[in-house]
Amino acid sequence: MFEIGNINAQNKQEFYKQLNTYLVGLISEETDWLAGISNASALLYLLLPDINWAGFYLYKGGELILGPFQGKPACVRIALGKGVCGTAAKTRKIQVVEDVNEFPGHIACDAASQSEIVLPIIKDDKLIGVLDIDSPVKARLDKQDSEGLSSFVNILNQYIDWPEQFE
Ligand code: SME
Repeated sequence: MFEIGNINAQNKQEFYKQLNTYLVGLISEETDWLAGISNASALLYLLLPDINWAGFYLYKGGELILGPFQGKPACVRIALGKGVCGTAAKTRKIQVVEDVNEFPGHIACDAASQSEIVLPIIKDDKLIGVLDIDSPVKARLDKQDSEGLSSFVNILNQYIDWPEQFE
């Protein structure tokens, strides 16, 4: 099994460089998509400091449905345009929310969540789903997280062979 250590980075850029190297190690030789994103969510939850939820919602039948994640059990279905996840999916734009209490329509799955980032996953112009990360700390997630996690999503898209069902 691929060995994962702690990350002792001086800044977020260095942190994501190491995190994304671990991701490549985890998924580059594994062809099963479900195993790949399950391990990806475990990697995020294990290594990102001050996080209480990390995982995927996948676009199926016109809505987002809960996929592999780490954290408390979460709501299963999210309509496009609803909450932070549905907004990211509908607009295809990364959502960085400093204070979830101020996001209109935010869906509270874990009352501890205070800030959140959601990245749309788009491949060949098709919406695959979203990557969602919650933190119990306000303004925990910023532009640097957004950049580092965009690379994380790009690596997923590079190695993961998404099944046809995500249409
Ligand atoms: N807060 C999200 C819902 C998913 S949970 O955070 C896991 C939202 O508003 O879309």
